[in-house]
Amino acid sequence: MKTLPISPENPWLAPLAGYSDLPFRMLCRAHGAAVTNTEMVSAKGLCYFNRGTTSLLQTHPDDAPLVLQLFGADPEPYDQAMDKTLEMGFRFFDLNAGCPVRKVTKSGSGSRLLEDPDRLCAIAEIMVRKAGPGRVGVKTRLGWENGNDIFLDVARRLEDIGVAWMTLHPRYGKQMFTGSADWSRLAEIKQAVSLPIVGSGDLYTAEAAVRCLRETGIDAVMFARGAMFDPTIFERFHALMRGQEPPRRTGEQLDRVVRMHIRYTREFDGSERAFRKLRSFIPRYAKGLRDIRSLRNELITCETWEQLEAAASRIREMEPADPLGFDPAAVIPD
Ligand SMILES: Cc1cc2nc3c(=O)[nH]c(=O)nc-3n(C[C@H](O)[C@H](O)[C@H](O)COP(=O)(O)O)c2cc1C
Repeated sequence: MKTLPISPENPWLAPLAGYSDLPFRMLCRAHGAAVTNTEMVSAKGLCYFNRGTTSLLQTHPDDAPLVLQLFGADPEPYDQAMDKTLEMGFRFFDLNAGCPVRKVTKSGSGSRLLEDPDRLCAIAEIMVRKAGPGRVGVKTRLGWENGNDIFLDVARRLEDIGVAWMTLHPRYGKQMFTGSADWSRLAEIKQAVSLPIVGSGDLYTAEAAVRCLRETGIDAVMFARGAMFDPTIFERFHALMRGQEPPRRTGEQLDRVVRMHIRYTREFDGSERAFRKLRSFIPRYAKGLRDIRSLRNELITCETWEQLEAAASRIREMEPADPLGFDPAAVIPD
């Protein structure tokens, strides 16, 4: 594939540190995600090929189209990081210029790059030079803090550099995840540049995503926390876009999701670490179930894949609430 599908009917899965690993991406693809992103990967870490970093690069031929997201404040390691990952077969890249968490911003990375647009553009330039046209996007916010709305200037510069799309989460870096995403700024950027714009921010339901597309005229939407709570959000989105009712939530459907997540996790990473991570995810899917407490307790105490599968199969008999019990604040990164 030479270019990515960036259009309203092609919903994206966001980069989600700690979550958008290979099994989760495959789960979202199976439910209709058109493009997925890796978790953010340190450009510097890639140069040293440290184990923690390279484990984030796990992929599979069916895991496509995939965008590899890089972060880091210093332009220098990007040269080598791009060479290495191109050699490994990665084709689409994103620069993280939006992450607000302290462990990233304290080194000048993520949304702190918005305080130094020359540096941000220098990094984007390296990435475009290495990957070629149509291959590099930048994910960003409005600015580092309120009053420093630099996103339109940055977008114009990125367009000149040859960046192929931009993802905007219309909050400020300093704002972290508080307040609400200002979708009117998505409409503003869409008007200001001819770069395709992918919108992110408070897209917790398929209905919200359709509304966001219609209100702003952006090219595509990206699901983040909405997909963490309900990977079928993509399916629901496709139904709405076709003018159909989204599928009714049932215990059977949730059971299928959980089983599929278990299956992909076992297939791609059967480690103890993966088991513990998945065990902590499932109660989030089950958040939409009435009388969830006993199931949650059972899931958390499972020690083997078989026990986990057996406990999860109880979901089939349970009635999901519609809309789901959803708490976006419960999963914000720290
Ligand atoms: C747990 C978590 C991890 C995230 N990790 C990343 C990341 O690695 N890179 C990135 O650009 N954004 C990251 N984000 C931001 C999301 O991609 C998205 O832009 C943000 O959550 C807004 O969308 P939402 O309000 O629909 O969740 C993360 C968000 C969450 C909640």
